[in-house]
Amino acid sequence: MTKENLENINLPRHIGIIMDGNGRWAKQRGLKRSEGHKAGAQVFRNICNYAEDIGIECLTFYAFSTENWKRPAEEINAIMNLFRDYLMEAQEKEEENEEKGMRIRYIGERSGLPEDIVGMIEQLESLSAEKHKITVNLAVNYGGRDEIIHAVKKIAKRVEAGELKPEDITQEDIDGNLFTAGLPDPDLIIRPSGEYRLSNFLIWQSAYSEFWFSNILWPDFTPDDLDKAIIDYSKRNRRFGGV
Ligand code: FPP
Repeated sequence: MTKENLENINLPRHIGIIMDGNGRWAKQRGLKRSEGHKAGAQVFRNICNYAEDIGIECLTFYAFSTENWKRPAEEINAIMNLFRDYLMEAQEKEEENEEKGMRIRYIGERSGLPEDIVGMIEQLESLSAEKHKITVNLAVNYGGRDEIIHAVKKIAKRVEAGELKPEDITQEDIDGNLFTAGLPDPDLIIRPSGEYRLSNFLIWQSAYSEFWFSNILWPDFTPDDLDKAIIDYSKRNRRFGGV
């Protein structure tokens, strides 16, 4: 398929992607799990570039969950190094003005991450803040339930300070205190690798999302697969609880 296939189609504004299946992909090839993550990081780059080309406004990638700390240290280190490589490369592109339209944002709990990674993320967020073609959110040390707790604590502080009455709390108050504040909710969530669950990804924001599942392992995911997901999405009838 090509970009032409998407002409006259109702594109999702925001796509969430759970990058799953790296370990199985590596195992099938007799490689270390970290090789699967390396291949997955390359696919992440390709999909970001392709999504920007076809006019997607926002992408959110689930790259490391709050539960992923349970993995062996060697695997965690390999994933952190892939983040470092990407962040360094993205920063160089920004500084050399090669990156025209990609704004990069971090969503997740910064406090549990290695300090150098937090520093690189913050630098990249500020360097790319004025880019408007596509927003790419990296969910790292992210958990949907943690995100909601984080929002509730901020709201509770306003209540404690007498700025807000409990009975006046609205959905907008929750929305505005999530890591994704200011972004549209995901229209489409893609999960490859044959798993059919959200795994604590954007659980508040996905209340009305459409889901697209496939058996493809993330390192094998191509722009054609993204096209297929978008075309399927465009045929769905979203009623948001209406008739
Ligand atoms: C899930 O597959 C994948 C992860 C926990 C890590 C995803 C990380 C990357 C793709 C690297 C990200 C890098 C950048 C630059 C964003 P899995 O390991 O659970 O696979 P399995 O279910 O087959 O074991």
